[in-house]
Amino acid sequence: MAQDLVYAFPGQQEAKAALNGASLRLLPGEIVCLVGPNGCGKSTLARNLNGLLLPRAGRVLVDGLDTANPDERWQVRCRVGVVGPDPESQLVATLVEEEIAFGPANLNLSPAEVKRRVEVALRRTGSEALAGKAVPSLSAGEKQKVVLTAVLAMEPRYLILDEATVLLAPGARRALLELCRKLAREEGLGILIMTHTGEEFVLADRILVMQQGRICAALAPAEILARRDDFSRLGLAWPPEAEMVERLVRAGYPLPARPATAEEVGEILCSLNL
Ligand SMILES: Nc1ncnc2c1ncn2[C@@H]1O[C@H](COP(=O)(O)OP(=O)(O)OP(=O)(O)O)[C@@H](O)[C@H]1O
Ligand SMILES: [Mg+2]
Repeated sequence: MAQDLVYAFPGQQEAKAALNGASLRLLPGEIVCLVGPNGCGKSTLARNLNGLLLPRAGRVLVDGLDTANPDERWQVRCRVGVVGPDPESQLVATLVEEEIAFGPANLNLSPAEVKRRVEVALRRTGSEALAGKAVPSLSAGEKQKVVLTAVLAMEPRYLILDEATVLLAPGARRALLELCRKLAREEGLGILIMTHTGEEFVLADRILVMQQGRICAALAPAEILARRDDFSRLGLAWPPEAEMVERLVRAGYPLPARPATAEEVGEILCSLNL
């Protein structure tokens, strides 16, 4: 999907470019987590992947569509939806329904097709009850759900969650992640999750580590437990979901050695009939 991307903001020296040889591949149906310290280039990568920014060197190809080609760039913008950390900065309308219709209405679709897309998107995220509400009256978790619904109304094949759960309460965080799991596993969307906390590792097929503008490691979730020192060297949080499994495995419990939720661990331990 992305090959050897170089991207420098105005005034950034070549050696300190926000992206400096970043490459990654995201397949349909796959959940990939991207972790890296502040300023390593995660958000810049997200904006290059959906054609909002154009790399100085390298290529972004989405299902064969190249962001360098002006005729294909808009299609890439539709195919790659981005949900950022702050829903307020992505919401433009007063009513939820208007918000979700905004993107499709700009695609020159018929009013009937826009209506269909709004209904389908609301159903996909289980947000039907929010449809008639005023956007300012929603909670932070509901607002982020509306942002995701509006992104889905563009019918993307890939989703990028750039720290999308960072401002949410734990319950809303888990609900959003569960929704992502469903979208990947049941609907085949490819999902890239930029994260600081690593809570999302429990969903991941692969975990990528980014440093100074490039991806420096690609790990399977089962490899993470052996990489704690690398995480602390990069100043990254060690997720409680990894800590818990690590301790239990060390104490001799027969758990799969990968980050897991408390619920998962509880079920496995109960099934062991200790
Ligand atoms: N609009 C901008 N203008 C100038 N420099 C920028 C701009 N946005 C980001 N940068 C710089 O580019 C580099 C990469 O920033 P980016 O936001 O992509 O990092 P990040 O990994 O998303 O960080 P964080 O974890 O804090 O969100 C940083 O050095 C940052 O200061
Ligand atoms: Mg960022």
